[in-house]
Amino acid sequence: MESIERGLIAAFRQSFQREPRLFRAPGRINLIGEHVDYNDGFVMPAALDLSIWAAIAPRPDRRLRLRSLIMDEVVDFDLDDSTAQPRGDWSDYIRGVAIFLERAGYRLSGADLVFEGNLPIGAGLSASAAFEVSAGFALLAISGAEVDRVELAKICQRAENQFVGVRCGIMDQYISCCAVAGSALLLDCRSLTARKVAIDPKARLVLCDTMVRHQLAAAEYNARREDCERAVAALATRIAGISALRDATFDQLMRYADSMPELVFRRARHVVGEIDRTLRAAAALDAGDLEECGRLMNLSHESLRDDYQVSCAELDLMVDIARSLPGVYGARMMGGGFGGCTINLVDGKRADAFAQAMIERYRTATGVTPLILTCVPGAGAGEACL
Ligand code: GLA
Repeated sequence: MESIERGLIAAFRQSFQREPRLFRAPGRINLIGEHVDYNDGFVMPAALDLSIWAAIAPRPDRRLRLRSLIMDEVVDFDLDDSTAQPRGDWSDYIRGVAIFLERAGYRLSGADLVFEGNLPIGAGLSASAAFEVSAGFALLAISGAEVDRVELAKICQRAENQFVGVRCGIMDQYISCCAVAGSALLLDCRSLTARKVAIDPKARLVLCDTMVRHQLAAAEYNARREDCERAVAALATRIAGISALRDATFDQLMRYADSMPELVFRRARHVVGEIDRTLRAAAALDAGDLEECGRLMNLSHESLRDDYQVSCAELDLMVDIARSLPGVYGARMMGGGFGGCTINLVDGKRADAFAQAMIERYRTATGVTPLILTCVPGAGAGEACL
């Protein structure tokens, strides 16, 4: 048993004087396919081997008592309270999932829960989805319900969209539920079907955390989504049957560029290009062509920076440093943007030197020491074996 699990069980016993069951849900990386999940596109995530754990035991009533060891806080609420409003903190993810599980027809038992994790919070590694999925998995299991992983991912996304108020796509919740150890997945965000993509073992996936978290992220995220909807509305008068940017080809977008404002066109150009890059990157990895995959990752960053405008100075700096270092196939910002991590595809033999040089150069330029993590693709959520 991992020491984090032992500590969590001890904390649960101390808080609630009984034995818990333990559930774990991982954070994620995304090789390529950024800001395309809510456009019905293709993404290429993998789970991290870093997670949020939920220790849980049922209660005879309909209360949920939540304790987070990460935030050092206790929150208590009633599952029958239909006037629930978000509090603006971590507990919203759990309360939202409980509300939307019940709305989907699951009758939940009350429960005591304690959360712990080794996943950095706010670093763009989807700790929020990991909170949601660990809680959802745990609540379903103690309520005697079958866990359908894709269904759970959809309910967690609904909770984040409608209770927390971030109109995120399905990628983070899907991969936290359905990841396969040792592989990335090429996920079709329309059909929610996925296939494994193997990454040549001679390469490493290295995450570099800028350590900055800009406040605008959630508002800008929702604004990008609206821009995409505007682009679809403009194209819908010209392209029959289009319901998402996934349905537009690059040629069509160029032909009808005048039908939308310039900024909306640039957002759409990122999305349509990024979907294509993701499919090409999957083909490149299938063929063992790391150079091509890295080239596409570089193009992804430029498009996110210039057309989608979700990067920031610290992410751009990190990408520039990475590209100047030996053994780097490709580097780009990862996730929603405005801070968080870059993802770097690096020759395994150069990965340690890469990490060292990145720490030194980023610290010299900013005064901040970045966190460097090597990603070992882990499995999706599940009950921890005690
Ligand atoms: C966040 C969202 C995801 C996805 C990414 C950008 O992580 O939660 O749904 O849109 O940003 O690719």
